[in-house]
Amino acid sequence: MHITGEMRVPGDKSISHRAFMFGALAQGTTLVRGALESLDVQSTIRALTALGARIEKTGHDWHVTGGGLHEPEVVIDAGNSGTTARLLSGICASTPGITVMTGDSSLIKRPMARVIRPLEGMGASFLARQGRFLPMAIRGGDLHGRSFTLEVASAQVKSALLLAGLKAEGTTTVTEPSLSRDHTERMLGHFGARIERQGTSVSIHGPQEISAREVSVPGDPSSAAFPAVLAAAVPGSELLLRDICLNPTRTGFIPVLERMGARIALQNIHEDSGETVGDILVTGGGLTGTTIGGDEIPRLIDEIPVLAVAACFAKGTTVIRDASELRVKETDRIGALVRGFASLGAQVEETSDGLVIDGPLSLRTGPVQTFSDHRIAMSFFILSRIAGIEVDLDDTQCVGISFPGFFSLMEGCR
Ligand code: S3P
Repeated sequence: MHITGEMRVPGDKSISHRAFMFGALAQGTTLVRGALESLDVQSTIRALTALGARIEKTGHDWHVTGGGLHEPEVVIDAGNSGTTARLLSGICASTPGITVMTGDSSLIKRPMARVIRPLEGMGASFLARQGRFLPMAIRGGDLHGRSFTLEVASAQVKSALLLAGLKAEGTTTVTEPSLSRDHTERMLGHFGARIERQGTSVSIHGPQEISAREVSVPGDPSSAAFPAVLAAAVPGSELLLRDICLNPTRTGFIPVLERMGARIALQNIHEDSGETVGDILVTGGGLTGTTIGGDEIPRLIDEIPVLAVAACFAKGTTVIRDASELRVKETDRIGALVRGFASLGAQVEETSDGLVIDGPLSLRTGPVQTFSDHRIAMSFFILSRIAGIEVDLDDTQCVGISFPGFFSLMEGCR
């Protein structure tokens, strides 16, 4: 089997969420092209509609008319989406009235104190289950800017605070230990807001109005990582992934695959709607183990499950460390990977903040529990394709969270 040809993946999830949110905050009508239409993004669209935005679709284009958000009459259901829940918390913190928010059985277990505490410090009030989980009620109001130093690099927390800071009186500054994805900062600039960036700090002086813009959403690098690993792990493969977001805060998986022995070329690089976009050409090779950790973790956090799959086929040891955030994603992804590999007959070492994989692993057909986590499901599907074994996933629907059409696109990838 060689993987050859070219492919487009659906629009970037992080940018799609933000395009709708910024459109809802901006005066006028924002045009969003190429938006991801996955379950997570639908949660954001429904929530913003409940908050008073008008969101309509014609053909492939979305029109978002915003500017006058108000207290919702219904409970906001963020579904499986941490980005919806956390970024909207920042928006609702400055929206007068009360917003009640909940989520699915995964999201209600994920930590919300990381947005609740700083937003309380800016003047919003929260009433949350056990003080830190959904469901929660937010009383929005007049906010004041503050400075925050985050303990973990988190784009969701940073974005919630910047969105609150946009409407707050005075300056809001967020400093991260290392830089997480910066789509919010870029989109603030694209929508005409003034921000200042220095190293891993960003400041916004509020209150500011933003006005409607056009946003073209590029392909999602986190989705592209699945076929990229498939091609990288199969020698003789050559796969061109077109129009992918190449924002350097998202492309950490590329140097990792290069370190492991794949050849990767970036082509047709250009700027669009404040983001860097281009094509990724992956040439497969025999892979070797590597160490993944430190500041690169935020740049590839969502790609770790599929990089762990690449490590299964690499010669030598792959160490993944400094990634304890994986334990609080849609599921505990470290635990889910270790259990999945064990179901396929392979032992990998679980550490508190990562994994140690001594490759190549000998894998056999078996069932895998996905914990309804889209990236766990897609990672084990890629593993099954590389290994040429049957992997029986207990939930395949969950891929619709971020990558509708994943299985049919992968079917065409031979
Ligand atoms: C996201 C940020 C990341 C990432 C998530 C999407 C975003 O989470 O894992 O899938 O759109 O801001 P954290 O910010 O919690 O690390």
